[in-house]
Amino acid sequence: MNTDSDYMLRSETIRIHTDEDFAGMRKAGRVAAECLDMLIPYVVPGVKTSYLDDLAREFIADHGGLSACLFYRGYQHTVCISPNHVVCHGIPSDKTLREGDIANIDVTCIVDGWHGDTSRMYEVGVVAPKAKRLIDVTYEAMALGLAQIKPGNTFGDIAAAIQKYAEAQRCSVVRDFCGHGVGRVFHDNPNVLHFGKAGTGPRLEKGMFFTVEPMINLGKPDVKVLNDGWTAVTRDKMLTAQCEHSCGVTDDGVELFTASPTGQFKPLPVLG
Ligand code: MF3
Ligand code: CO
Ligand code: CO
Repeated sequence: MNTDSDYMLRSETIRIHTDEDFAGMRKAGRVAAECLDMLIPYVVPGVKTSYLDDLAREFIADHGGLSACLFYRGYQHTVCISPNHVVCHGIPSDKTLREGDIANIDVTCIVDGWHGDTSRMYEVGVVAPKAKRLIDVTYEAMALGLAQIKPGNTFGDIAAAIQKYAEAQRCSVVRDFCGHGVGRVFHDNPNVLHFGKAGTGPRLEKGMFFTVEPMINLGKPDVKVLNDGWTAVTRDKMLTAQCEHSCGVTDDGVELFTASPTGQFKPLPVLG
């Protein structure tokens, strides 16, 4: 029997959260989203990615949070910054971003024990149309996945919506990384796949919290991790993009915990 009063466990040990827990995620998600908003004017040609990491660290501290990434499995930085062919887990460094680059910045803040995990794409100066298109396809794929979230649908419905759209746009879905349950735990059950068959996998229930964070490639889906143990890149060195929101299943749909309070990056997806 489960005597942990914080959680009830059901549906293959996917945690079910209370209304109070939603309030906790709202606060954490907001700080994460505001951090990504804050960075927008600093993502310019010539900026060191370590400088963006410094800004994020100070912002999170000033807002009563902690970075969940700092010291996570030995990771030494606040955010992940993944330019061009870097799929995810790019390490901030002295390297600068250059005109025409695209980059994902992924932040996870802990506020009052809750984790807000979100990432978006940034354009450095003027970027090529094919890079812009990849960003749009990735955002739309995530939005279509989020639009599947309501009690009674399955995790496979989310996955299938993402894969179907991305592949119809002649892009590919990365298989090696997935979304995850989120809440008091950074990476919780279940694995949220971004490819698969509709109607498969666990059913969504009110109170489940998880991320949807598809990585979409212009070329092949294959990735490899560099010798630093973190940086994941496309094997064919073609461009890749990612968008991530943390969300909760409501009575009749989904709540996005990491939506930009001022509507930055992209309009909110039409949900429900
Ligand atoms: N934020 C990433 C995710 O979406 C995880 C980064 S872990 C780190 O799950 F250690 F690399 F920062
Ligand atoms: Co995540
Ligand atoms: Co993340």
